[in-house]
Amino acid sequence: MNKLLKDETLKTLRSAFPILKSEINEKPLIYFDNAATSQKPHAMLDGLKHYYTTMNANSHRGVHELARQTTEAYEAVRLQIADWFGVKENEILFNSGTTMGLNFVAQSLVKPQLTPGSKVLVTVLEHHSNLVPWQEIAKATGAELVYIPVDPETYLIDLDALEKVLDDTVKAVAIHHVSNVIGVEQPIQEITQLVRQKTQAFIIADGAQAAPHMRVNLKELNVDAYLMSAHKMYGPTGLGIAYLNERVHALAAPFLFGGEMINVVGDHSSDFKNSPWRYEAGTQPIAEVIAFGKVLQFLQAQNLEALYRHEQALTNRLIEGLTAIPGISLYRSATEPHHGIVSFNIDGVHPHDAATGYDLEGIAVRAGHHCAQPLMRYLGVVATLRASLSFYNTPEEVDYFVSVTERIKEFFTGGFR
Ligand code: ALA
Repeated sequence: MNKLLKDETLKTLRSAFPILKSEINEKPLIYFDNAATSQKPHAMLDGLKHYYTTMNANSHRGVHELARQTTEAYEAVRLQIADWFGVKENEILFNSGTTMGLNFVAQSLVKPQLTPGSKVLVTVLEHHSNLVPWQEIAKATGAELVYIPVDPETYLIDLDALEKVLDDTVKAVAIHHVSNVIGVEQPIQEITQLVRQKTQAFIIADGAQAAPHMRVNLKELNVDAYLMSAHKMYGPTGLGIAYLNERVHALAAPFLFGGEMINVVGDHSSDFKNSPWRYEAGTQPIAEVIAFGKVLQFLQAQNLEALYRHEQALTNRLIEGLTAIPGISLYRSATEPHHGIVSFNIDGVHPHDAATGYDLEGIAVRAGHHCAQPLMRYLGVVATLRASLSFYNTPEEVDYFVSVTERIKEFFTGGFR
């Protein structure tokens, strides 16, 4: 069900995010670029400052008090994240972001299984970070990258077509959970069941755009790997969260080698720690991990279901508003939910020109190919505008956005004729 938050609740929620009080071009900021990165709550900013001012030390190294406290706090967040996603602590690995996570899984888990004739399945909706790593390992091994068709109306993976390609040559299925352009949510659990019935393939899900908009239970999804970025979930940049199912640990060699991921270093070879530490070479994003723990505490204190319903109600209001304007092309799924993401074009107006128009009104949107060039070709466009919402956005912002869209359209297509 879609339902807006009460005004007072929304006001309190917004006050937790200091940047939302900003003015841009002398207009109140309307931040509609949440799929690129989300804004940060005081809890996270205070967490970073508190860490650096009271605890700063390197984790897993020193025996001194600050090092001990830092290690304890860092590992406590791993447990917090594991609980959040319904999995085990040793299945949560930290890295720099979704891109790093996908490259790690491609290189360490999947590539060693590929031979000429093997297949890796993807869709045309993938973000480049869930496409180019597979292209590269396919080229290096003689494997084939196969695109599973999606329904042209819903953009959902065609399960019948998927079933037809599933055989022993399929070594990995690498798909988005929520598309960063269309906002469609793929039925990962159903896909996982189907793939596991027919093959031994690894199932890898790009969760970058899903984790900020729903409670993801990774145990239920039953994937082998799931990759996310903290900065899209109200956390700091530079921190990725990778889930690697325990049952594939033995098959995935470390991707990076260096300090603190080893037990013994001989002159010619070394012995690595157990998971997850074998996957965390070098100094980790310690402050970011600890601050992300504060974000999860903040989220846990909210009525998350109500926040997600609000996001959905805003998204539908935006879609309705844009649909009512003639000459707007929307690129969206015929199904719900849309998870805050609305991609569109104003016919006859270049998305970058339009984005400049929005910026003059204090509105942040993204214009471009959204790191999804194969999808742009599929849609028959070079670029789109993308408004991406969060639970801290308001219905008034949505209505203003729709009215600015009408003005931009008028300015570029009407005024000078
Ligand atoms: N992947 C991010 C986006 O879709 C940056 O905007």
